[in-house]
Amino acid sequence: MKAPLKIGIAGLGTVGGGTVRLLQERSAALALNAGRAIKIAAVSARKKKAKRAVAVGKYRWVADPLKLATDPGIDVVVELIGGAEGVARKLCEKAIANRKHVITANKALIAHHGTALARAAEKAGVSLRYEAAVAGGIPIIKSLREGLAANGIRRVYGILNGTCNYILSAMTDQGREFSDVLKECQKLGYAEADPSLDVDGIDTAHKLAILASVAFGCEINFGAVHVEGIRHVSLMDMTFARELGYRIKLLGIASVSKRGLEQRVHPCMVPESSPIAHVGGSFNAVVAEGDFVDTIVQEGRGSGAGPTASAVVADLLDIARGSQVPTFTVPATKLKKIKPVPMARHYGAYYVRLMVVDRPGVFADVAAALRDHSVSMESVLQRTRDPGEPVPVVMTLHETEEASMVRALRKIAATEAVVEPPRMIRIESL
Ligand code: HSE
Repeated sequence: MKAPLKIGIAGLGTVGGGTVRLLQERSAALALNAGRAIKIAAVSARKKKAKRAVAVGKYRWVADPLKLATDPGIDVVVELIGGAEGVARKLCEKAIANRKHVITANKALIAHHGTALARAAEKAGVSLRYEAAVAGGIPIIKSLREGLAANGIRRVYGILNGTCNYILSAMTDQGREFSDVLKECQKLGYAEADPSLDVDGIDTAHKLAILASVAFGCEINFGAVHVEGIRHVSLMDMTFARELGYRIKLLGIASVSKRGLEQRVHPCMVPESSPIAHVGGSFNAVVAEGDFVDTIVQEGRGSGAGPTASAVVADLLDIARGSQVPTFTVPATKLKKIKPVPMARHYGAYYVRLMVVDRPGVFADVAAALRDHSVSMESVLQRTRDPGEPVPVVMTLHETEEASMVRALRKIAATEAVVEPPRMIRIESL
C-alpha cells in the first residue's frame, strides 16, 4: 500500500465533526477504496475546548488554521470554516501556493473566487475539490464533471437550499406562516447562521453559479445571477398555485443558448406532475439536461453532518487515488466567458395576483395594460368577495419577455382600483 494521505482539517462544526466521524468509523473501507490510508494529521478550530459530537483530543491541535497551509506533515487542507473572505480564503490560497490539495465545503468562497483558485491550483499541480459546497450529499459536481462529461449540458436547475424548501413545503402542506417555519428550521440546524442567506436566495445563487460553471465549462459569474428570495411568497399564492396545478418552489436555474447564459434564482410555479414538485422538507434535488443523456434527476439531503461529510470524503478518496480532473470540467485557463442574458430578456410564462376593488371596468383597465404591452392572457379567475373587501384576481400569462411583463405590471399597479402591489411568480415548464 502507498503511504497514507495526511490531512489537516480547519473547522470542526457540523461539517468538520461529521467528516472526522466518517473518517474514524469507515477508515478500513476507505483505505481499501483509495489503496492507502487517510490519516487526520492535524485539526484546527476557533475553540479547542468546545463541546463536540466527536472526540478530537488525539489529533495534533493547530491553533492558527493558516499554519496548516505550510505544515510539511500535511498533503491536503480541508477548509470547513466558511465565508467568502477572511481566514477561509487565505487558508485556501496559501495551501495552494504551498502545493497542497484543497477540499472545501465553502460555496460562498467558490462562487466568488472559484475561477482564480482553480487557475492557481491547476498551475500548482494540485486539486481543488468542493463537492460538499453544492447540494450537500448529492454528488452533482462529480456527475457533471465526470459522469456526464461527454454531454453538452443545456440546462441545470434545482432545489439547492433545504431551508427554503422546508419552509415552502410546510407552508403548502400545513398552511403555516413563513416566520413560524423559519424559526423551526433554525432550531433544526438547516438554516445558515445568518438565515437571510437562505431565505433571500443568496445561498442558492452561490450554488447555482458553481453548477453553471461545471455544467457549461464557463467562468463563474456570481454577479450575473438574478436573485429573489421567498419572503414575499404568501399562503394565498400557494392555494392558488395548487388550484392551477402547480407547486411553489425556490429554484436555481441556469441555461445556455445562442443568447448567452441565463442564471436565475426565484420562487417558481412548477407543474404538479414534475419530479421536482414532490421534493419535500429539507431535501435538495438537481436536474441536468444533456444532449445525449437527456434528463437526469438526483435528490438527496443538501445539508447536515452526514451528507456533507459524505461529499468531503468522496473528494478525499479521489485525491488519495491520484485522480486528476479539471476543477470545472475544462482546464481553468480554458473556461469560457459566456455573455449573461439579463433578466429583462428572460422569456417565460407568469402568474400574477392582484387585489382589486370589485367594481365595473376594473378588469377592462387591467386587460388594456396587458394589451398595450403585448402580454397575452392564458387564464383568469376571481374569487368570491366579502362585501367591501378587495378581492384577489389571479391571471396566468402566456410566454412573454420579462421586460414587457414588468412594464404591464407597473401600469396595472398604478390603476386606482388595484390596492396592493401585484404579486408575480414565474411559471416554469419543466
Ligand atoms: N443553509 C443551507 C440549506 C445549508 O438550507 O440548504 C447547506 O448549504
